[in-house]
Amino acid sequence: MFFELTEEQKAVRDAARDFAQNVLKPGVIERDEKQIFPAEEIKQLGELGFMGMMVSPEYGGGGMDTISYVLAMEEISKVDASASVCMSVNNSLVCWGIEKFGSEEQKQKYLVPLAKGEIIGAFCLSEPEAGSDATSQRTTAQDMGDYYLLNGTKNWITNGGSASVYLVIAQTDVEKGHKGINCLIVERDMAGFIVGAKENKLGIRGSDTHTLLFNDVKVPKENRIGEDGFGFSFAMKTLEGGRIGIAAQALGIASGAFELALAYSKERKAFGKTINQHQAIAFKLADMAVEIEAARMLCFKAAWCKDQKKPFGKESAMAKLKASEVAMAVTVEAVQVHGGYGFVKEYHVERLMRDAKITQIYEGTSEVQRIVISRAVITE
Ligand code: CAA
Repeated sequence: MFFELTEEQKAVRDAARDFAQNVLKPGVIERDEKQIFPAEEIKQLGELGFMGMMVSPEYGGGGMDTISYVLAMEEISKVDASASVCMSVNNSLVCWGIEKFGSEEQKQKYLVPLAKGEIIGAFCLSEPEAGSDATSQRTTAQDMGDYYLLNGTKNWITNGGSASVYLVIAQTDVEKGHKGINCLIVERDMAGFIVGAKENKLGIRGSDTHTLLFNDVKVPKENRIGEDGFGFSFAMKTLEGGRIGIAAQALGIASGAFELALAYSKERKAFGKTINQHQAIAFKLADMAVEIEAARMLCFKAAWCKDQKKPFGKESAMAKLKASEVAMAVTVEAVQVHGGYGFVKEYHVERLMRDAKITQIYEGTSEVQRIVISRAVITE
């Protein structure tokens, strides 16, 4: 056991913290209110190397470990969870999926610009009737010889309107069930691909969430990831890593709200003393700190398992389940510590409370995480 961060990991954390506090924070309330995607800020994150952090330098990435990724995700998410979900999807679903399972041609053509942050990627699994039940894909990729004919609709797609590259999961052979599913790399300007309506959301309002429509899109065979029928397995394996990113996002939302509540409690006076001198508030702060640390340890454990090339599916599900529940509980308490001020936008905690909810829903609901964890512990 070694609980000390390396100098490199500390430097990554500090760079992400500086960026979040100095670049993301000034406009975050307006972006949330008006649902503005942080395009310029994401471009800068790319230039700083945060959009392809774990990708090998050979393909334009930062070559960093997953612990560094968790640290960066926490710092960015303390301030702007809309920016961090874009970063998370690009890093741990799109870049990781192509680097791990893509062909050399796919890596050169798509991974390199994605890892450098020159373009953004999206991961398209969810459908109107296939959320948690991900095997029930209705989108079809009909095998036409040298290309697939893609038809269907994808829902709630993060980076839907701003991406250039889309990893689309679709059913090729219905008879084979989940073994007849493929993942295709779709380019934004392919004929028949339409970016549909943008969602008007409770939280992460600056993130760009869309419905996507595919009408007879011709996708070349060389854009399939892996062997024929590998698509569902690809999605499940990729989501294992994605869940570490969302766990770290939830951790950041919680620790961001905690830091705000702590600072406020040291300044606000009531009944003749600062409110942190009242046990009712002091004990809340203690409980929040304990829960956040527990979530952080689970995030680090999952990240460490991934870096050590050990299985990490159960660990990432545990981290996401715990961290998202902590994010929800801690942000509610942070609003309470702020009293009336917590209910207005200028104090940031109401936004963090709204943002927290999505971490219990996307990349698998809390119920999906419990399916993954219970299956693992029962068969261990
Ligand atoms: N790795 C590799 N293969 C896996 C796997 C994994 N982690 N988990 C399952 N599989 C394989 C199984 O081995 C099985 O294949 P075989 O029959 O060949 O053995 C196949 O997949 C089907 O598995 P299950 O029988 O376990 O499937 P299930 O129908 O019971 O569902 C589930 C399992 C865990 C609920 C899964 O459907 C799931 O994770 N659902 C949630 C989907 C999800 O997370 N969606 C998020 C969308 S992306 C997103 O949110 C991004 C964003 O915008 C932020």
